[in-house]
This record gives sequence, C-alpha cells and structure tokens, in this order.
Amino acid sequence: MQDNDHQSPEPGCIAAIMPAAGSGRRFGNDRNKLFSTLAGRPLWYHSAARLAASDQIERIVMPIAPRDRETFAAEYRSLIDELGIELVDGGSQRTDSVHAGLEAIGEDAAIKRIAVHDAARPLVSSEDLARVFAAAAQTGAAILATPVSGTLKRDLGNGAACETVDRRDLWIALTPQVFSVDLLRRAYQRHRGCGATDDAQLVERIGHPVTLVRGSADNIKITHPEDLALAAAILARQDSEYQP
Ligand code: CTP
Ligand code: MG
Repeated sequence: MQDNDHQSPEPGCIAAIMPAAGSGRRFGNDRNKLFSTLAGRPLWYHSAARLAASDQIERIVMPIAPRDRETFAAEYRSLIDELGIELVDGGSQRTDSVHAGLEAIGEDAAIKRIAVHDAARPLVSSEDLARVFAAAAQTGAAILATPVSGTLKRDLGNGAACETVDRRDLWIALTPQVFSVDLLRRAYQRHRGCGATDDAQLVERIGHPVTLVRGSADNIKITHPEDLALAAAILARQDSEYQP
C-alpha cells in the first residue's frame, strides 16, 4: 500500500480508457444502466467529466456496445463533444472492450500512462485521481482500492456450512487502474482470453507488482438499481463539501 502525497507528474501524459460497453444485466433495465440519470446527467457523463477535469488526462477513449451507438449519437452527441470523448466499439467481455480502447490509442508519443476507469463509477474524487496518478508515475502500475470492512465467509456447501476468511490483507479493487503504456500493452498481448475482472490481474500475471493506493469508499460502482439512490446521496454530500 502506498500513500503518496500529491506530486504532479507532467500534465497531459495519461490517456483514459473508460469501458462502457456492458449490458447492465444485474441492473436489469432494457437500456444500458449507464444511461440512467444522476443529478440530471447520464452516469457515464459524470465518470468522464471527473476524468476530464484532471490536467493529467489528455484523451478519453470510451468503448461502447454497437447496439448503443445510435443512442450515443442521437441523445448524447453534445455531451460527448463537450468532453472530447473518442467512441470505439467495445467487445463481449470487459477485457475485449479495454483491448479495443488500447488499439484506438495507438502509438501516441505524448501518452506515458493509461488509466482504465469503469464508466459505472461516477463518484471518483479529484484527490483520489491525483494520488493514483502520482503512484503510477513512480511504480508503473497503481490502482485505487479500499480495505474489506465486513466479515467474509466462504460457502462450503450450498449454504449448509461456511468458514471465515481472514480479511486482514484483503482489499476491494476500484478504478482507475493506471499503468505505463508498455506494461499494459504487454499484459494484453499475453492475455489470451483467460477470465479477468480487472486490468491489474493481467499485469500481476506477467509478474509486475501493482501498487495499492487507498481510495475513498465513495467510489462505488453502479451495479444494482439500489446503488443509484446511494450514489445520489454521496453526490449531494460531495457537492456540499465542495461549496466555495
Ligand atoms: N464493460 C464493457 N464491456 C463489457 C462488459 C463491461 O465495457 N463487455 C464495462 C461496463 O459498461 C462498466 C464496466 O465495464 O462500465 C464495469 O462492468 P460492470 O459493472 O460489470 O457492468 P456491466 O457488465 O454492464 O453489468 P453486468 O455485469 O451486471 O451485466
Ligand atoms: Mg459485467
């Protein structure tokens, strides 16, 4: 775990990939959950606007599902243009979508690192962004994470018996997850389709250590419908804290 103070690496050296190509199955709407509104704006817009507000971020590439392209073009063109977002086609797994984002970034001499941030995390703070960006500038690979707070049980037989898992070393991975460009490209080249729910897993598999940066538990991922009300409450509190 690393607790970096704000040190600003050079501005404009990070490209963000913001995967948005999921189907939101657990959210259970007929439309992508990312079109749900929070304080009058779609979820994906909040996530992108927070990235765009960082002077470290030079580009934002957003992989989307082909079935959503029409909606983005018809309903959200001006918001996309406002933030300068580049849309690309995502894939069937999250890793396929991130891979498509990596391809779209291509060879760009200005870009030193890549930050992968779930479009479904609209509440990441500017302080957490600055801290994970600073850590990645030092170590080449850093992710936001929060310690597990509850007691963990392992099911030993369809709920009939369980055991307790020691939580002391356990963290919940959040995003952004930030890597030097070459490292993330190598991790994806070696990936070959094995399952992975985050990008750090692919980097760990090629033997590069990933730094954990403690982030705020506010940075929730909207997964189930009830998460929206929680997000609205967190946003209201964040807004009141940042009043001038
Ligand atoms: N994502 C993506 N491409 C996929 C799957 C997911 O770009 N093939 C994106 C989602 O749009 C989301 C982020 O990855 O912003 C995290 O995924 P998750 O929260 O699991 O979203 P969904 O996959 O859409 O939801 P579910 O798993 O409930 O279907
Ligand atoms: Mg998913």
